Amino acid sequence: MNKCLVCSASLEPFIDFGCMPLGNGFLRPEQFGDEYHFPMKVAFCAACGMVQLLHQPDRERMFHEHYAFFSGTSRYMALHFKAFADHVMADYLPDNDPFVVEMGSNDGIMLRNFAAVDIRHLGIDPSKNVAQVAIDKGIDTVTEFFDVELARRIVLEHGQADAFLAANVMCHIPYIHSIVEGIGILLKPGGVVMFEDPYLGDVMEKSSYDQLYDEHTFLFSVTSISNLFDRYGMEVIDVEPQVTHGGSMRYVIAHRGARSVSPNVARQRQREHDQGLQLPESYDRFRRNCEESRDKLMALLRSLKAQGKRVVGYGATSKSTTITNYCGITPDLVEFISDTTPIKQGTFSPGAHIPVRPDEEFGRKYPDYALLFAWNHAKEIMENEKAFRASGGKWIVYVPQVAILD
Ligand code: SAH
Ligand code: TMP
Ligand code: ZN
Repeated sequence: MNKCLVCSASLEPFIDFGCMPLGNGFLRPEQFGDEYHFPMKVAFCAACGMVQLLHQPDRERMFHEHYAFFSGTSRYMALHFKAFADHVMADYLPDNDPFVVEMGSNDGIMLRNFAAVDIRHLGIDPSKNVAQVAIDKGIDTVTEFFDVELARRIVLEHGQADAFLAANVMCHIPYIHSIVEGIGILLKPGGVVMFEDPYLGDVMEKSSYDQLYDEHTFLFSVTSISNLFDRYGMEVIDVEPQVTHGGSMRYVIAHRGARSVSPNVARQRQREHDQGLQLPESYDRFRRNCEESRDKLMALLRSLKAQGKRVVGYGATSKSTTITNYCGITPDLVEFISDTTPIKQGTFSPGAHIPVRPDEEFGRKYPDYALLFAWNHAKEIMENEKAFRASGGKWIVYVPQVAILD
């Protein structure tokens, strides 16, 4: 019997994606033979509200010295993290020698804003190749997994933190109790925790099932996060919806009673209730929507192929691993995937084995259609690729609906 990673209640999956490869497991032909797969099933815990994967690969398999995701590949995300850092500095840091810790600091996209004004900071990221980019920029970084044991060591070496930040990493961590306990130890009595992740409410509303892949152990809501942090004497004091990654939520958390609680928190919890996020039947509806979306996308790709059209994928995202494998998209339907990340270029997509090529290849001979796998970066990409549309090319999207954009 499967148990909830947060509260140990018994769980039944509401969707089974079958065997999936690693979302970021881009590989070379000689590795096709022993490609790793895991059973990807997702469950909702009616007791504590947490949506979660029932199995997750070992962390060392996902986060290592060849990690494929570099945060700095998006200009808009760099601006987003500058605004995040400015908000922390303006509204939450004390004047006297503040100390900021970030978990999942990657290439330093957020912390460089603190380093630039000489604020004491510490990044934590076990993926050595991406962390090295931050270290080379002079950002203090430890290349380890954050957990309760590391939290204790940081307190001994640097003292407690005024702010503990994290973006798109809290939801990656199945040993979440060790993380939250560690945060409780690391955080000063008056300090704040601020983290953001893709939001369950958006995923349900948009049927954006590609937010489910190996690294995304959890899909959080204000309800589930409140329940989790309550166990460690902390409370959500504010919530700030974000447009990033197709709809994210930023949670602001403090030790219980240390800071006043914004009415935004109760308001958002009421919205979650009104949306039916507490009802098991909402997740059955979500599964039916996913199946429908998959069938529509495949019908479209097959019809374009029958018409002799060229279709290329845009953005070799980890999310797209769920799309290509769940839908059964093969290289005869999508010729290649264009991506700006050097480490991904020349590899093949996980499971589906669609070639990944540099973006120059996309521009060399525009296809008839581009399937926007990086739909969360649509604005930035469409600005960069105006010439594609001008050439008569059309974008295909599948969130919130399968559609050809005019
Ligand atoms: N914060 C960045 C990076 C997100 S990708 C952004 O939003 O763009 C997730 C990152 O978390 C990866 O770089 C991964 O190596 C790191 N990570 C995974 N588990 C971690 C842990 N236990 N402690 C610290 N970092 C972790
Ligand atoms: P993400 O959706 O997980 O952030 O990944 C985005 C991927 O898309 C990443 O591999 C970089 C790639 N990308 C491009 O190829 N061109 C672009 O203009 C942008 C913004 C991202
Ligand atoms: Zn639970």
